[in-house]
Amino acid sequence: MQISDSSSRILAGLLEARTGQQLTLSRRWRIETALSSQLRERGIATLDELITILVMGKEPSLSQKVVEALLNNETYFFRDRAPFDLLQRHALPELARARHASKRLRIWSAGCSTGQETYSLAMLFAEEPQNWLGWTIDILGTDVSTACIDRARHGTYTQFEVQRGLGINQMIRWFEECPDGWRAVEALRKPVRFQVHNLLEPAPHPGGFDIVLCRNVLLYLNPDKKALAFERIAGSMAEDGWLMLGAGETVIGQTNKLGADINARGLYRLVGDGARIEKRQADRRAASGA
Ligand SMILES: C[S@@+](CC[C@H](N)C(=O)[O-])C[C@H]1O[C@@H](n2cnc3c(N)ncnc32)[C@H](O)[C@@H]1O
Repeated sequence: MQISDSSSRILAGLLEARTGQQLTLSRRWRIETALSSQLRERGIATLDELITILVMGKEPSLSQKVVEALLNNETYFFRDRAPFDLLQRHALPELARARHASKRLRIWSAGCSTGQETYSLAMLFAEEPQNWLGWTIDILGTDVSTACIDRARHGTYTQFEVQRGLGINQMIRWFEECPDGWRAVEALRKPVRFQVHNLLEPAPHPGGFDIVLCRNVLLYLNPDKKALAFERIAGSMAEDGWLMLGAGETVIGQTNKLGADINARGLYRLVGDGARIEKRQADRRAASGA
C-alpha cells in the first residue's frame, strides 16, 4: 500500500515531536505494517485516509495510538546476555558493599518496552536470594508507550515471548501458565513497578538510581534529543551509580557527564564523581587491608 510523501512526513513529525524518535527514510517501510491494525479496526482502506482523520484532530486518542504503533518495541529476556553478567559480576557486588547500611537498591529500566528487561533484572536478584536477604530492591520500568506499560504491568507473555532469552528451567521456575500464556510469578512481580514516562521529561527520582538501563532506546533520537536524554539519565543517577546502554551504543561524543567505566566495558559512570568514587573505594580498601 502506498503512502504519499506528505503523509509520511506528517507521521515522522508527529513521532519525533512526541518521543524524539526519528522515522528516517530507511525506516519508513515500517509504516504500513505498523499501522495496518489501525486501518483494520477503523475499516479504512488507505493510509492517506487515516492521516486525514489524524490531521482533522477529531479523534484525540488516535494520534497516541499511531505514535505507539510506530515505535520499535523489540525486546526479549536477558537481551544480549553479556551485560547482565557484567552487572552480576561487577556492579551488584560493589553496590552490595556500598549500600550495606541502607540495604536498598533502586534500578531504572528506561524504555523497558513490554517489561522483559525489567523482569530479567528481577530474576538476577530472585536467583541469589541469600545475597539480598533483608534488602529492599526497587526496580522501575518505564516506557513512553501506554500499551507496552499495560502489558509489562500484567507480566504475561506468549509461549514464543517467554522462550526468547530464557532456558526451560528459568521459564518454569519464574513463570506460571495461565489462560493468556505465561505470567511472571509473584516473586518477580513484587520488586518491579511500571510507569508511563517519556525519557525527554525529568527523571522519576532525580539522583536516586543506583543502576540505570537505557538500552536500544536512544539509537534513533536526533542529536539534540539524545543530548537531552543523556542529561536526564545523568541527573537520575546516584553519584556512584551505573548506566548500561545497548550493544553498540556509547556515551562518547554524546555527553560530557558520563564516561566509560575503565574496569567494566559496557558500563558507564558519572564523570568526575566517578573518579572521586574510585579514589574513595581505593582508600576504603587500603584502610581495611583488603
Ligand atoms: C527497541 S525497544 C528496547 C526495549 C529494551 N530496553 C531492550 O533493549 O530490549 C525501545 C523502547 O523505547 C521506547 N521509547 C522510545 N522513545 C522513548 C522515549 N522518548 N521515552 C521513553 N521510552 C521511549 C519504545 O516505546 C520502546 O518500547
